[in-house]
Amino acid sequence: MAKSPASFICSQCGAVHPKWGGRCDTCGGWNTLVETAPLSAGPGTRTLGAARGQRITLSSLAAEEAPPVRAVSGMEEFDRVLGGGLVPASAILLGGDPGIGKSTLLLQVAASFARSGLKCLYISGEEAPAQVRMRAARLGLTDAPLHLGAETSLRDILTTLDAERPALAVIDSIQTLWADMVDAAPGSVSQVRAACHELVSFAKKRGTSVILVGHVTKDGQIAGPRVVEHMVDTVLYFEGERGHQFRILRAVKNRFGPADEIGVFEMTGAGLAEVANPSALFLSERGQAAPGSAVFAGMEGSRPVLTEIQALVAPSTLATPRRTVVGLDSGRVSTILAVLESRCAIPFTGLDVFLNVAGGMKVIEPAADLALAAALLSAREDVALPPDLVIFGEISLSGALRPVGQAENRLKEAQKLGFSQAIAPERTKAEPGDGMRLRKLPDLVTFVGEMFGAG
Ligand code: TYD
Ligand code: MG
Repeated sequence: MAKSPASFICSQCGAVHPKWGGRCDTCGGWNTLVETAPLSAGPGTRTLGAARGQRITLSSLAAEEAPPVRAVSGMEEFDRVLGGGLVPASAILLGGDPGIGKSTLLLQVAASFARSGLKCLYISGEEAPAQVRMRAARLGLTDAPLHLGAETSLRDILTTLDAERPALAVIDSIQTLWADMVDAAPGSVSQVRAACHELVSFAKKRGTSVILVGHVTKDGQIAGPRVVEHMVDTVLYFEGERGHQFRILRAVKNRFGPADEIGVFEMTGAGLAEVANPSALFLSERGQAAPGSAVFAGMEGSRPVLTEIQALVAPSTLATPRRTVVGLDSGRVSTILAVLESRCAIPFTGLDVFLNVAGGMKVIEPAADLALAAALLSAREDVALPPDLVIFGEISLSGALRPVGQAENRLKEAQKLGFSQAIAPERTKAEPGDGMRLRKLPDLVTFVGEMFGAG
């Protein structure tokens, strides 16, 4: 049979090309195409008519099946991000920057599962067992009945898993694995793809859940990027700023639960500690009321999280003033600056703008628009907002305020943390509890008038 030709895959967008080229036609990336060995094309792929497959059994939608019994680790932040615990036979990818704490998290998670009676294997391709044991000692996990292995050969790992049949296997990391059937270096797209494919198939066939660690490359994608993400059931990202001790575990894809759910951890000398009340933590560094600070009542998945948005506005010496944005969408910031300028006649020309979310949190909700505008205005006018005020609402291009979802949860959380005033868009349905005053405003111009006394 003719050998199936090699193909080329874009390491940025995952598009497959029959020929090599300097530029990917799909995403426009330069020098991103890498050769990949074809995934085993079984015999008969070319002569489909001659070799007939088996007829598959079809069923109706109404078939009754008990929902999967999830295993809970007892680390609530982790269990919630998975959608309420670990689904048997599921494949999970945990991505994150090197050194962010992925191995620490998974060692703690695996030890928790092991303590609760689940058979767990932790296989490290990066550290020797002695190193993992040292870490476990530091984390106080030495008593957990966890099975430890250090191996990079995919074949040996699969053989071991097949013999041991654990309920959960942690593989740290997918980039160190080496599949001998693929003729490429470890960490290359074809190796990562083949290793992931084999491990996910194993998980589905044998009922073992696997958690794969994937290092993220500089441009923010898991190496062998999208090609791995679509193979697994759940994609988690572990994020955080190196300088901050907060770490956020975020579900970006989840076949068994809501995406966008987050878990918050704090990196301490004794490993990762769960943060049950992230709002309190993110606001804890807030000092006295200062110009340029606004508190946003946000939602992260099912959970309300309050964050402080900080702005600094200063005269610029540059022809094109700076727009430095950390933790917020810079496109959104430009839009709001334009709306402030054209709808409220408040220009930012000739001014440098710096924006930041305190605590290293990332805020991507459009509901943060109004708080963002408030921080910008407060900085520009040098007027502090009331310290007990929370803000949420989306700003449309016309300058109108649009209501956002889950207003009630946002208000409740703010009240729990001692805030007594809130500003939200006019058509917000929720009402605050006793002791909280909610002002519902129709548009940005009214907001500017109310807060800063000018239209
Ligand atoms: P690690 O889990 O090795 O990161 P990754 O697997 O994502 O590459 O974590 C590395 C960092 O975490 C390291 O710089 C030290 C820090 N750390 C602590 O602060 N406290 C601890 O108890 C542990 C185990 C690590
Ligand atoms: Mg590691």
